[in-house]
Amino acid sequence: MNVAAFDLNAMLDNLMAGPLRDLEPMERAIFRTRAELYWPDVDRPIALLYGERGDFAEWCNRMLEVVARGYAERPPELRLLDLRRQSQPDWFQHPGMLGYVCYADRLAGNLQGVADHIPYLKELGVTYLHLMPLLKPREGPNDGGYAVADYREVNPALGTMADLARLAGQLRREGISLCIDLVCNHTAKEHPWARRAAAGDPVYQDYYLMFPDRTMPDAYEKTLPEVFPDFKPGNFTYYDAIERWVWTTFNEYQWDLNYANPAVLAEMLAIILYLANQGVEVLRLDAVAFMWKRLGTDSQNEPEAHAILQVFRALSRIAAPGLILKAEAIVSPPKLIPYLGRGSATNKECELAYHNVFMVLLWSSLAERKVTLMTRALQNMPPIPSNTAWVTYVRCHDDIGWAVTDEDAAEVGLSGPAHRAFLSEFYSGRFPNTFAIGATFQYNPRTGDRRISGSCASLAGLEQALANEDIHAADLAIRRVLLIHNLIFAYGGIPLLYMGDEIGLLNEYSYLDDPNLADDNRWMHRPKMNWAQADERQDWWTVPGRIFRGLSDMLATRRQIIAFHAQAGAYPVWTHNEAVFGLLRDSPRGRVLVLANFSERPQTVPGYRLYEMFFGGRLVDRLTRRSFDGSPGITLEGYEALWLTPETEMETNGNPPESNEGGER
Ligand code: GLC
Repeated sequence: MNVAAFDLNAMLDNLMAGPLRDLEPMERAIFRTRAELYWPDVDRPIALLYGERGDFAEWCNRMLEVVARGYAERPPELRLLDLRRQSQPDWFQHPGMLGYVCYADRLAGNLQGVADHIPYLKELGVTYLHLMPLLKPREGPNDGGYAVADYREVNPALGTMADLARLAGQLRREGISLCIDLVCNHTAKEHPWARRAAAGDPVYQDYYLMFPDRTMPDAYEKTLPEVFPDFKPGNFTYYDAIERWVWTTFNEYQWDLNYANPAVLAEMLAIILYLANQGVEVLRLDAVAFMWKRLGTDSQNEPEAHAILQVFRALSRIAAPGLILKAEAIVSPPKLIPYLGRGSATNKECELAYHNVFMVLLWSSLAERKVTLMTRALQNMPPIPSNTAWVTYVRCHDDIGWAVTDEDAAEVGLSGPAHRAFLSEFYSGRFPNTFAIGATFQYNPRTGDRRISGSCASLAGLEQALANEDIHAADLAIRRVLLIHNLIFAYGGIPLLYMGDEIGLLNEYSYLDDPNLADDNRWMHRPKMNWAQADERQDWWTVPGRIFRGLSDMLATRRQIIAFHAQAGAYPVWTHNEAVFGLLRDSPRGRVLVLANFSERPQTVPGYRLYEMFFGGRLVDRLTRRSFDGSPGITLEGYEALWLTPETEMETNGNPPESNEGGER
């Protein structure tokens, strides 16, 4: 190991005389302080990644130089943001946080259009805007922008990098943090690194994973799953021009990067800081589970993939502590939590991660009208570190993969494969009497795996109900939409509204006419914003009105409930009614018992069970502000959800006691 050869102090002295020399003494001192504080977080992961290399110390120096340059270039407004964020490190954990996810072009044409729609976002209470991939993609099919040809340029159809920086500033002044994607696992094969590699440059060939013959690909394939079996079977693609097999986990045109080469990590770090310096506050790190490959494994969630994220975090915090990182790791429950850091990396990996398990369980419970699996599977997940938060969501731009483990299923008497198959049948619209209209995405005959595409409203039954002109069914569908959103609001963390779900947009089939999109049915749930429909949002009697106002009302209440802060524990509890999900939010900030009925029929939670959970006596439903006696039990209407606090504890929730406006239930 050459780990000892690296001398932090000597390097810091060099940097002070180098890239940092033009800064004020106080700014230089801040850099030194942060480097001293954060380098211990880098030490261990960087040694895991590159500690065996003879040039280890040089690479540490190179990385710190990248960080120093990023720091020197940080605009004053963003230095102030750093100060704000460090002074209030729980800023993203507040119950007032609300995310909105959209494609800039599909919402409003381009980046300027997005700026014009800030008032709409504010009306919803959005504090975090995730714009789907917007860096310059390759021409032609590009996986919805996840094949990037230039990380320092914006897709010209949307605007320029200057437009992005301007938009980030406009959003920030309105209290909205900008989140964008950083596709860090792979580049487009048209990226300049890939072009040089394809031209035979060995320096850049080492940026990717390339093999002269099938020996290694065959050895890896023995244990690798396929992500897009329909689009591109296998994980490698042969290119005649270079006579090499290239690692391509996703589509042929997406080349996986080789992080065993420290040059790749240094390049990506520079890109992270470049984007942070444009005013991006949250980076969604795409497909992070795949960043390290290891023979004999599925090459996902390897310890080195975590080490890369830990290095990204610690080093980016030296230059831009206003930036936070979000892991996109759509993996099974035991694999998911480590992305928020654990053991010595607790609070030192990503601040945010998608709770895909919760999302899947919400749909599973709706199909089953039972919450046993959801309750048990969530109970089996350990708590997350205090300075992190889930990103909760019901739908996103991707398909739904049934991340239910066989072990969790078995604990509630289900067969994992059979249950997953049932869910695919149900949501592709094949199961008898299903309410859903969706489609199968990437059927894998080898594993039987069938993922699902479809919009929230269509999967929840609205498309079918409207087609049948069935008002009762439409009402139930709207209640389902509101119910699952209610839970992502109550769970803690940043709930994401996926564009169009707030007004009940249905599956959209026009993508079939575009040859670049037609083979990817995920476009059915990536519709263009329907502003005519959105204009009905204040009209209670319309579908958009019921959903939009229903969500807005819940959100207005949520903002007031400090017990919903992400640091407060979220404990799933048995309610003694298998159709009613119970979630206890419990902390010194106060207690809220969330009850959610997943069936269309009224359901009762017995009084003794409430009493056992210390929710006996008079309770207040924070959503309707009604106060009532819970001793005889509580009956919830079909798909109703309640946010309950014992009346005697209303003060400790930090809120003034609410009036008994609605009277008894
Ligand atoms: C992520 C994205 C998905 C994309 C894949 C490859 O999973 O969410 O849309 O296809 O990464 O970049």
